[in-house]
Amino acid sequence: MADTDPPRYVVSGADLSLSNQGQLELLHEMMRRGLPLRMPVRGSSMAPCIRDEDVVTVAPMDQEDPRVGQVVAFITPSLGRLALHRVISRSAEGWVVRGDGCLEADGVVTRDAMLGRVTRVERNGREVRFGEGRMGASIAWLSRTGLLLGLRSVQRTPRRLAAAVLRRLQDQRLYRTLGRRWRLRVEIFEAGEPDLQSVRRWLDTEDSGPEASRPGDLAVKDWVAKHRSKVVGSVQLVFFSNVHLEWQGYWLFSLNVRRRYRGLGIGEALTARVAEEARAQGATELLLVVSEGNEPAVRLCRKCGYTQTVVEALEPIFQAEKASHGRRRIVMRRRLDGGT
Ligand SMILES: CC(C)(COP(=O)(O)OP(=O)(O)OC[C@H]1O[C@@H](n2cnc3c(N)ncnc32)[C@H](O)[C@@H]1OP(=O)(O)O)[C@@H](O)C(=O)NCCC(=O)NCCS
Repeated sequence: MADTDPPRYVVSGADLSLSNQGQLELLHEMMRRGLPLRMPVRGSSMAPCIRDEDVVTVAPMDQEDPRVGQVVAFITPSLGRLALHRVISRSAEGWVVRGDGCLEADGVVTRDAMLGRVTRVERNGREVRFGEGRMGASIAWLSRTGLLLGLRSVQRTPRRLAAAVLRRLQDQRLYRTLGRRWRLRVEIFEAGEPDLQSVRRWLDTEDSGPEASRPGDLAVKDWVAKHRSKVVGSVQLVFFSNVHLEWQGYWLFSLNVRRRYRGLGIGEALTARVAEEARAQGATELLLVVSEGNEPAVRLCRKCGYTQTVVEALEPIFQAEKASHGRRRIVMRRRLDGGT
């Protein structure tokens, strides 16, 4: 491989972090050699039994056929990606597999596409139960009958209520003022690839992978806010350098704070960080796009010195959006050179 080639399996960044394809190929090879593999889980399709960032051990199936209730590592029939889901029934062509938290089954998985079975799950360094043996068979039955999702939503009701109450509180200025006095230890870092993966999983956006390319006239810098080591907020500074485009210049993009951490000053701190960097890069103004009905965001922008402006080239797009789904986006601008 030439030095300049992008790595195919390893996602660049401080930690070794394999892409789905990398994990799949490594697992394939380990299973072929009859060896177990410990690997981190990405995603919540098996929650609550197996959660995002748990560490699972996958062992070879040997000559055994998968059993209903077992959690297996397999190649998904639709996308050809590695997934860890539960076998919920047998069919003539193979096994029907479904994530405990998924609305639909993955389809029928053939024996060839089954790579191994999950034998152990660790969470924060401790082994946890993940629905093995008879429990696994019962979960599979509940999943088949559609009762599993119903049970999960009953189980989640108290959490949903708590979240609704918290949302109401976050809308209150008093909560936000007191929240800031509480001084939660949150720090802002320039984001590495593992942080960005964490953001993508949290926002449930496509994992574009290490080979994702950006146009040459686009420069992006990402930051994350972390509480302890958990990513709780993110933002980007995007610079469009093409002078022929009306939106050439510096833009604040993708500002987001995890629900539970809103109202504590994190959004404001991330916004300030982007302005500081834009100024350091020589920007005289910073722009952003926001839905005009998004009151928290619009208020945050006003508080940080942004005022509404118009970028003519974007207006037809915004008007078409308004016509199709009723939401109107606007552009806001902040001068960084002291002007108004
Ligand atoms: C918008 C968002 C980033 C705000 O982050 P946050 O960390 O909760 O905001 P902060 O605690 O820093 O609050 C800063 C200011 O924002 C405004 N604000 C924040 N939450 C608000 C709410 N629920 N209602 C009204 N104003 C609110 C206020 O002006 C607040 O200042 P104040 O407390 O002195 O009144 C957050 O709500 C979010 O992630 N929303 C979803 C994604 C999004 O809309 N992004 C914006 C794209 S431009």
